[in-house]
Amino acid sequence: MAVIIPGLRLGLTTVRWLKSQAASTLAVNGRRFAAYEQIRLIHVARDKSNPANGTVPRRLPFSIVSQQDLDFFKQLLPGRTITDPDLLESSNVDWLKSVKGSSEVLLRPKSTEEVSQILRYCNERRLAVNPQGGNTGLVGGSVPVFDEIILSTALMNQVLAFDHVSGILTCQAGCVLENLSNYLEERDFIMPLDLGAKGSCHIGGNVATNAGGLRLLRYGSLRGTVLGLEAVLADGKVLNCLSTLRKDNTGYDLKQLFIGSEGTLGVITAVSILCPRKPQAVNVAFLGCSSFQQLLETFQCCRGMLGEILSAFEFLDSACMGLLEKHLKLANPITDSPFYILIETAGSNAAHDEEKLHNFLETVMMSSLVTDGTVATEESKIKALWAMRERVTEALTHDGYNYKYDISLPVEKIYQMVTDMRKHLGDKAKNVVGYGHVGDGNLHLNITSPTKDPALLAAIEPYVYEWTAACRGSISAEHGLGLKKKNYIYFSKPPEAVALMGNIKSMLDPRGILNPYKTLPDNLR
Ligand code: FAD
Ligand code: MLT
Ligand code: ZN
Repeated sequence: MAVIIPGLRLGLTTVRWLKSQAASTLAVNGRRFAAYEQIRLIHVARDKSNPANGTVPRRLPFSIVSQQDLDFFKQLLPGRTITDPDLLESSNVDWLKSVKGSSEVLLRPKSTEEVSQILRYCNERRLAVNPQGGNTGLVGGSVPVFDEIILSTALMNQVLAFDHVSGILTCQAGCVLENLSNYLEERDFIMPLDLGAKGSCHIGGNVATNAGGLRLLRYGSLRGTVLGLEAVLADGKVLNCLSTLRKDNTGYDLKQLFIGSEGTLGVITAVSILCPRKPQAVNVAFLGCSSFQQLLETFQCCRGMLGEILSAFEFLDSACMGLLEKHLKLANPITDSPFYILIETAGSNAAHDEEKLHNFLETVMMSSLVTDGTVATEESKIKALWAMRERVTEALTHDGYNYKYDISLPVEKIYQMVTDMRKHLGDKAKNVVGYGHVGDGNLHLNITSPTKDPALLAAIEPYVYEWTAACRGSISAEHGLGLKKKNYIYFSKPPEAVALMGNIKSMLDPRGILNPYKTLPDNLR
């Protein structure tokens, strides 16, 4: 039996009824979905309070900051309790300038103890708090929705320890990623993650979003490299799991709860992280391909021939190249191609690595998998090639309003999503572009329009999520759910898992003060 979802949100009674219809199928916009997907779809069907659809949730009954509260904060953080609207302006708006809050208080603690006192007080007073790092998040999670107090980690920027033998770095959460990279490079080590926002993002924000980035293919996710963390819970309790051990199987691994929790379960105040040695030899190749199929074959060949020295395999399409040229005046270093690949190798022996890379390039050029290419070994040239991939995000912001999607798919499906979306939208969009982390099966699908366009958004969503769910992909590969995507969680997680997330939230933050309106869907608030 087919159940057609009407254009309005369905109640829980209907959801329960559907659960009992084991053999039924569900049709949404003419597409059929398997039973396991039905409940997710119902929860998100055209939710009227979804910020992505242009509306925001209603303010929950938190207290409003009083003069007495301000007196408390000013006494605790003299000179670091900011109420000047001009200074608050940039902390209230996200990097994409797509979400804006109206907080009137920005707190800048320097120590874990200060964070603890802030949260204890806010919890007792039921004041909502928005943890904020570098404010580079892309899903509207880093800024308040209403008047939540902004708790910034900007002044928690001290390296606490570095062990030269193990390569384990322990630091406060507000250290800027690039500063940590520079600190480590002087000591012949590197951070295991790197991303275009490195000049602004904080390591605490990286851990809170479980940021992926450009080196995940080689060094794995933060779930593996973060060895320990310290977090302050909603009631001010300090959870010291700042272990520096590679192996520790004593009970549940609680730090994992905070990695990727987007500020909803606790404020991360310090982390310890395993850092690789600085590679002695780095090469970057920028290559052109005439089809995505050839790009995939190049990837397979690359893995086989470069093996352990491969550290990144990234891609962008010709539409991205057009935006780099138009908006940032970057010159294409090779001849125009439908697809571009950026390959990085990082190893310990320059001659060995160059020989491997040379053999690989010869193979892919001879077999016509790659049509043109250039290689850089000098630092300045390597940076210039990386800019072609890292600065796509920036180029897009100059193209108009950005609808950003960050999707995990089986790698062979990655680009089909872009071509299907182009067909689906026709001339409704200004540009539909694809780039991302091929090595991680992570597509960044971005759609631009001259201005914010509700009709365009209605054409993109839920189509993009249905498409992803049909391939059993993830609707958020690395940016998180934040404010913009929380109500779509059911496309990627079963209802039982989401309900358990709600229970964990209630246990750790019973008054719901930490980053409300984010990550968990509205029906769990
Ligand atoms: P913010 O933006 O300040 O916050 C992000 C979330 O984490 C919010 O929900 C916030 O409440 C929470 N949070 C921040 N600090 C803490 C803390 N100490 N404790 C608890 N919660 C906290 N992401 C990727 O995964 N891969 C990329 O390659 C990548 N590239 C990017 C490139 C650009 C140009 C930009 C602008 C963004 C990019 N991002 C990328 C997205 C973004 O997630 C990362 O930049 C970064 O991890 C966010 O860190 P932040 O310090 O800016 O956190
Ligand atoms: C990237 O890989 O460039 C980032 O995740 C940012 C983006 O998606 O634009
Ligand atoms: Zn990315």
